[in-house]
Amino acid sequence: MKKLRWGLLSTARINKVLLPPLRASERNELTAVASRDTARAQAYAKERNIPRVFGSYESMLADPDIDVIYNPLPNSLHAEWTIKAAQAGKHILCEKPLANTVEDVDAMTEAAKKAGVVLMEAFMYRHHPQTLKVKELVDSGAIGKLQVIHGAFTFKLGNEDDVRLNASLGGGGIWDVGCYPISYARLIVGAEPVEVFGWQVTGQASGVDETFAGQMRFPNNVYAQFDSGLRTPRRSYIELAGDEGTLSIPQPFQPYENEKIALTRGDKEEVISIPGEDLYRGEVENMADAILDGKATRMSLADTV
Ligand SMILES: NC(=O)c1ccc[n+]([C@@H]2O[C@H](COP(=O)([O-])OP(=O)(O)OC[C@H]3O[C@@H](n4cnc5c(N)ncnc54)[C@H](OP(=O)(O)O)[C@@H]3O)[C@@H](O)[C@H]2O)c1
Repeated sequence: MKKLRWGLLSTARINKVLLPPLRASERNELTAVASRDTARAQAYAKERNIPRVFGSYESMLADPDIDVIYNPLPNSLHAEWTIKAAQAGKHILCEKPLANTVEDVDAMTEAAKKAGVVLMEAFMYRHHPQTLKVKELVDSGAIGKLQVIHGAFTFKLGNEDDVRLNASLGGGGIWDVGCYPISYARLIVGAEPVEVFGWQVTGQASGVDETFAGQMRFPNNVYAQFDSGLRTPRRSYIELAGDEGTLSIPQPFQPYENEKIALTRGDKEEVISIPGEDLYRGEVENMADAILDGKATRMSLADTV
């Protein structure tokens, strides 16, 4: 079986989560890292035992021995480098949010289609067994008719120089964490909201949404409310309420192994344990399914847009 050779586009901090699943996978392998700075790429590769180093993003894209690019650049650079990678014939797993505008997502989709390569947004939680189980429970009527979704994803940013506080690099709380409860609600409802409303607290220095509270009205009288942000201590949860019960998910977006969710119906609470897996394994294996076996990606570009 062919192994897909992956190249990391930059020395981004988030790269570290992809190293274990790439190394554990039978159909993928970590081959290279590229950086804008050769010395940084060399030091990064040496410390992590990565075989090949490129001193520019362009040189990695030009190398015929790289099959898949992982794009973890700041959000505003996702479109430019994903399109360049597609034009170079590489498959791409690109971090969320895939882009900051619908026009950019359309251009990336078109570039991938034209080049005949696989492109997927790296919403890792979509592949995790817990997410699949929650969807299955709701679809099978475990809480009756879905009525209300509540959720939050917040944390306190430690560094004022973080790309998340830089508007020109696509910063902001919605793009960084608010996108998770929005994505989760859309997945569970299985439809797009017909009306949305939100308030934000804009950072005086950053100009980006640092705190956000939003609501979405879905078809068939389903309502979702969430908050997200970069200035509130860490909170992460989803609660789903139907006319016969509720489902409480304490770790909806970053579930690991042995997570528990609670299903309440009447006076009875059932705690359901879900044997999980490495959070980032699913997206890596799903890329191999799509590239080597021609299967559909679990996270489609239609969903992303
Ligand atoms: N799915 C998840 O769990 C998850 C978690 C965290 C972040 N993310 C996503 O991953 C992406 C990166 O986040 P991160 O926190 O890892 O970012 P980061 O550590 O700031 O890394 C971004 C990298 O991009 C490169 N870069 C190129 N142009 C740059 C510029 N003008 N300014 C700054 N960096 C530039 C740099 O690498 P070189 O200098 O080596 O070229 C830098 O190391 C974002 O899209 C974020 O939403 C996803």
